[in-house]
Amino acid sequence: MVQCRDWGEIMAKVKVALAGIGNVASAIVQGVFKYRDVPDDADIPGLMHVKFGPYHISDIEFVAAFDIDERKIGKDLSEAIFSKPNNLEKFAEVPKLGVEVVKGPVLDGVAPHMKDFRYGEGFLVDDSRPSVDVVDILKESGADVLVNLIPVGSYEASRAYAEAALKAEVGFVNGIPEFIVSDPEWGARFKEKGIPAAGDDFKSQLGATIVHRTLARLAVERGLRIENTYQLNIGGNMDFLNMIEESRLKTKRVSKTEAVTSLIPYKVGARVGPSDYVPFLGDRKVMYMWMEAEQFGGFKVYIDVKLSVMDSPNAAGVAIDAIRAVKLARDRGIAGPLEGVSAYFFKHPPKQYPDYVAREMVEAFIRGEEIKIKI
Ligand SMILES: NC(=O)c1ccc[n+]([C@@H]2O[C@H](COP(=O)([O-])OP(=O)(O)OC[C@H]3O[C@@H](n4cnc5c(N)ncnc54)[C@H](O)[C@@H]3O)[C@@H](O)[C@H]2O)c1
Repeated sequence: MVQCRDWGEIMAKVKVALAGIGNVASAIVQGVFKYRDVPDDADIPGLMHVKFGPYHISDIEFVAAFDIDERKIGKDLSEAIFSKPNNLEKFAEVPKLGVEVVKGPVLDGVAPHMKDFRYGEGFLVDDSRPSVDVVDILKESGADVLVNLIPVGSYEASRAYAEAALKAEVGFVNGIPEFIVSDPEWGARFKEKGIPAAGDDFKSQLGATIVHRTLARLAVERGLRIENTYQLNIGGNMDFLNMIEESRLKTKRVSKTEAVTSLIPYKVGARVGPSDYVPFLGDRKVMYMWMEAEQFGGFKVYIDVKLSVMDSPNAAGVAIDAIRAVKLARDRGIAGPLEGVSAYFFKHPPKQYPDYVAREMVEAFIRGEEIKIKI
């Protein structure tokens, strides 16, 4: 058993700071308000735990918000989540939160093609004011956890937020494919500082990755030999617009590809990743997956799948669990990358485990137990 401190003393609220007030932030904030009054034993579609350890979903409280877009900065978080270019539909009433969105460090958060509106949308960087000191804001707000939700390809900006979390001694959830929590050096820094972290890159509830992983594993377990596979994704939100530039999505390709190929014990032909921006899809994402394998007798098996989901809500339920996991680790004095939590909720964890194993690890973590892993 992991030794816990006195929960009665430390439970209270889970104070969350969000970096990047895009569609995923919108889905997280709306989700917390949509489900705030549900009973502990309710079965909420898309949410794996109404109560994660001692924390009900309603225990999440937003205390700080960072962005760089002039249409969001200066607004209350409850208003900013519905400001352009966000295009996730409203699914919950969010009251005024008393949290003003402030300007974070821009660094490499905004790709050149996102500034010229050549596709009709993009980011409008607020040049009228300087960036705040993220460490100061985190400390002043009393945040327990900082969640990184900025665009794919933000190498420097993601590290600036991770650095700020370390300095402010705040837990870190990395929702994007920048390899920080899964990087041994960064992991060691979080451990040394006594800060828990989970990442990298949210693995959506039922998204392209988990469907592809499940089918790949099934094929391997049934003794087929996978030869080639692809997973093409299209969508109409800013995440997809950002990722039309191949240079932005090197790590996304690695994260999404490894999430699938790590389960196949030999080399296969694989092309996996975001494939185009289709504006009228809005926050809907469509995935086409194909797999070619060899069966008994040398014949071919083909698997063809089309999956259509709302993109941002698909990550939000997972994010809400990951946030509470990091807070729980903090309460218990657990530091460094959380192995099972990262493997279950993220595509590129420090260590990959099959999903059913990672799930067991998360449940054991909630109970405060160590488990022996059998794969
Ligand atoms: N299912 C999913 O939606 C899913 C799954 C896994 C990972 N992700 C990742 O989560 C991240 C957020 O996704 P989204 O759909 O909300 O994206 P989005 O483009 O809607 O939001 C990104 C936000 O970050 C802001 N931003 C840009 N640079 C910044 C900086 N330096 N500091 C603070 N804010 C900055 C932008 O103004 C924008 O509001 C993306 O990297 C995405 O790939 C999403």
